[in-house]
Amino acid sequence: MKSDKIYIFDTTLRDGEQVPGCKLNTKEKLELALELEHLGVDIIEAGFPVSSPGDFHSVEEISKVVRHASVCALSRAVKADIEVAADALKNAKHPRIHTGIGTSDFHIKSKFNSNREEIIERAVQAVKWARNRVADVEFYAEDAGRTENAYLARVIEAVIKAGATVVNIPDTTGYCLPHQYGEKIAYLVNHVKDIDKAIISCHCHNDLGLATANSISGIIAGARQIECTINGLGERAGNTALEEVVMIIRQHSDLGFKTSIKTQSLNPMSRLVADTMRMPVQPNKAIVGANAFSHSSGIHQDGFLKDALTYEIINPDEVGADGSKIVLTARSGRSALAHRFRIIGYEFTRNEIDVLYVEFLRLADTKKEVGEEDLHALAKVAVSA
Ligand code: KIV
Ligand code: ZN
Repeated sequence: MKSDKIYIFDTTLRDGEQVPGCKLNTKEKLELALELEHLGVDIIEAGFPVSSPGDFHSVEEISKVVRHASVCALSRAVKADIEVAADALKNAKHPRIHTGIGTSDFHIKSKFNSNREEIIERAVQAVKWARNRVADVEFYAEDAGRTENAYLARVIEAVIKAGATVVNIPDTTGYCLPHQYGEKIAYLVNHVKDIDKAIISCHCHNDLGLATANSISGIIAGARQIECTINGLGERAGNTALEEVVMIIRQHSDLGFKTSIKTQSLNPMSRLVADTMRMPVQPNKAIVGANAFSHSSGIHQDGFLKDALTYEIINPDEVGADGSKIVLTARSGRSALAHRFRIIGYEFTRNEIDVLYVEFLRLADTKKEVGEEDLHALAKVAVSA
């Protein structure tokens, strides 16, 4: 079966870096950009050059060293922003300007005190300014998630005519349900003239915990780029998590999609981003959380020890995780206890395990997790009994 390539647009260094406390200096951004390129992302959104001299410098330095991925710089639909973004990208091998404007009535009326026709003119003008400087121009229709589809289609048609190579349909506020977001993309596929001249991009926020689901719904409906961040970092509740969409595409190969991501680097990349941005990953985070491959209840442990596939859909090696863990708690069973004893060198009979299990439960009820030291102490009791 032919697989459709999904372009992975990483915005950890732009939307991710907007998280309070996650600001990066140029050296940190440079290090992460090189690792993102090594991970296999297709586009690195390196920053918003007009926002500060430091960010301009970061985009400039990243442009000098990244050779395979496209380097992208954000701008508003403002000539000065676009010129500054283009200047910052001047050494990039594959430069992309990401420019755009709010298209929902909330943005048009409250933010711009404008009207729909004027917004289309500003959008078109911005794309033309950007195309004067670079060949690859992505247009974002901010708050597309809450923009009426018929009007959104007019905006998108106009910017493609003006030269946009990628059209980004952000669910800026994370409002859409997966079927609504998918229908929005399908509407554009079916109603925008020359839509095949541009790549449709999904940029979903996680305010309702739906960013990943919406992005997948978007590619099923015809989008071919996903904007995402490592560990799902981003404004407010964050963006689509790169590791999640990449592994969904890999696990569900029947969807017919592929990415260029080296999945074994996902966990090391997640740790590097968490350390550099000083933002720990929640333990239950899919793919990269500390508990993503831990089994603690007796029923699960017994099944897992008989056949890992009973409770694991991903081999931890595939995503560069440390390996599956059998954690001992008061909910654990005898087979897990025997397994952990075996790992540290004790082979007990079934009867001995039955006796040890009673002692183990007494101890486990008093603490969150029974560790190796505890097991050695329990084993001593069994040996001396
Ligand atoms: O969420 C959003 O709409 C954005 C745009 C600037 C692309 O981050
Ligand atoms: Zn965003």
